[in-house]
This record gives sequence, structure tokens and C-alpha cells, in this order.
Amino acid sequence: MVQITVKMMLISGSVLLLLAFPAVISEVVDFSECSEFFFEGKSPVIPGVLENSLSQDNRYKTICQKYENSYRFATLFDTTNKVPVFSAYKFTAAAQISRLRDGWMIELQLELFNDGMGVPYANQAIDEDYFYNNQNVGRGHLFPSCHSPDKVFAQSTFTLTNTVPQKESFNSGSWNRMEIETKDLMGKYCVDEMDQNKVLAHVLTGAVPGNNKLNERVNIPSFMWMTFCCYNNSSQSWISQAYWAPNEDENKADNITIAERSLQELQEFLSTKWVKITQLFDNSCTK
Ligand SMILES: *[C@@H]1O[C@H](CO)[C@@H](O)[C@H](O)[C@H]1NC(C)=O
Ligand SMILES: *[C@@H]1O[C@H](CO)[C@@H](O)[C@H](O)[C@H]1NC(C)=O
Ligand SMILES: *[C@@H]1O[C@H](CO)[C@@H](O)[C@H](O)[C@H]1NC(C)=O
Repeated sequence: MVQITVKMMLISGSVLLLLAFPAVISEVVDFSECSEFFFEGKSPVIPGVLENSLSQDNRYKTICQKYENSYRFATLFDTTNKVPVFSAYKFTAAAQISRLRDGWMIELQLELFNDGMGVPYANQAIDEDYFYNNQNVGRGHLFPSCHSPDKVFAQSTFTLTNTVPQKESFNSGSWNRMEIETKDLMGKYCVDEMDQNKVLAHVLTGAVPGNNKLNERVNIPSFMWMTFCCYNNSSQSWISQAYWAPNEDENKADNITIAERSLQELQEFLSTKWVKITQLFDNSCTK
């Protein structure tokens, strides 16, 4: 009886603390709830981490990111490193979205899973982790707001569970140019095979954990990667394309371009740098 009371007090204590931040309540449910964000409705296969759309280890949470009552994208989140493994989303329009207010949201549900109820934010990064860091990192989106079809979607990307500590010069340099290049490519070629007047691509953006931490809490990834799969309206065939780059400071004058690679090359790269990836897109993006 006493124990229950103490626990309840701690719970309400955490909730009060949590509410001091703008929060979203997404759903930590298996990815089958938001399978639309995955090619053919199937999430990547990462042995020991994610299989059959289910997390294989309690440290990895499958989040269907909900904002304004709808699912917007999906994230596999690593609560040990406090960074996402990847976010999965649909690209449906090359839209021009005006600059949004920088309001970052935390994920309330991840904290309600917290075992040590007294420790707030044990499972994710918060704004404060990014303050005054001397590692030149800022909040880097996985699902970038510039790949959103509209303002509400763009706003939904501002969750800390969709964010990794990314070198500022990399984020605003080669990575940003790659995001714009893929936006243009997908907008130009990618269509829904069943309704070829509609733009559609399935995209995965992820990060490979590194050896350094931000604020002694949040992993600073060593690499970031992106890949898309879609039906090419011009060639009338399935195509995929991939990119990766180290999360390192870069010199603006070098005007670095991130090379285009194949899906297969990305899978091999991730398997050597992180864990064996069996498949990022179902059937390797063929039908
Ligand atoms: C796909 O190509 C067809 C035929 O050229 C064209 O009518 C259609 O608008 C294209 N779809 C998109 C989304 O651009
Ligand atoms: C789509 O197909 C056209 C025609 O074959 C090709 O020129 C273009 O590069 C393809 N787009 C992508 C993104 O691969
Ligand atoms: C940077 O590189 C791109 C691609 O190679 C090129 O189109 C662009 O003009 C370059 N920009 C500058 C400022 O050198």
C-alpha cells in the first residue's frame, strides 16, 4: 500500500516535470500500426534489433509518430543511446514550406516506460542536452522538415525522437544539399505506381551510433544515411538510391557533395559499420 502511494507520487512528479516541455503523445506500438510508412508495409529487417515490424530488444522502441491526431511517420528509437536508429516516411510532394518556429517536442510515452520513475528523460534527449555544447553539434532531423508535403507535417518532424546530434557545418552543408537534391529527384521522378499522377517515395533516414556523447548522455552518431525507393515515372520501373556521410565538421569552401550510392552498397556499409542489415526495403525495392 505504502509502496503504491510512493510510486504514484513519483509518477505524478515526473508527469508534472514532463509537462513543462511541449510534448507529443505518439504511440509506442509495433510498426504494423503505421505500416503505410514502409515500402510494401514492411519495416527493415535488422537481426536482433527489428524483425517482422517488432522490436527484438527492449532498448529499441518502435514509435508511430502522431501529430494533430494522425500518424505522420515512424521511428525506431534506441533508448540506451537516446537517439533514433532511423525514421521512415512517405515523400508525397516537393513543397515549399516557410521557416517554422523552432519548438522541439519530447515524447511523453517514452518516459512513462521509464523503470526508475524518479529520473526524468532517462530515455531521450531534451533541449538542454544541446545547450552550450563545445562539440559543434545541433539538432539534426532524420525526417527533414523540407521533405514534408505541408506545414503540419513539417511541424511534426520537430520531435527530439526524430533528432540526432549532428555537426552544424555538416547539417547546413553537404547533408542539407543532399536533402534538397533528393527532394528534387523524388519530386521529378517518383510516383505512385497505381496512380501515376501522384508523387510517392518511401524514404528511410538513419544514423550509425558513434563513440562520443553529448552532455554525457546522448550518443553522437558517427555516420548518417538516407535511402529512397520509388516507382520511376519516366522509366516505368522501381528504383532506389542511397547516400551516407560521416558526421564530421566540414569546411564550407570545400562544397562537399555526398555521393549517390546503391541500396545494396548502403546495406553493406551499414553491416560493416554497425549491425548486419538484412534488408532495408522489402524485396530490395523490387516487385
Ligand atoms: C507521370 O508521367 C505522366 C506521363 O508523362 C504524366 O502525365 C504525369 O503527370 C506524371 N506524374 C507526375 C506525378 O509527375
Ligand atoms: C528515372 O528514369 C529516367 C529514364 O530512364 C532516368 O533518366 C532517371 O535518371 C531516373 N531517375 C532516377 C532518380 O533514377
Ligand atoms: C558546389 O558544388 C555543386 C555540385 O558540384 C555545384 O553545382 C555548385 O555550383 C558548387 N557551389 C559552389 C559555391 O562552388
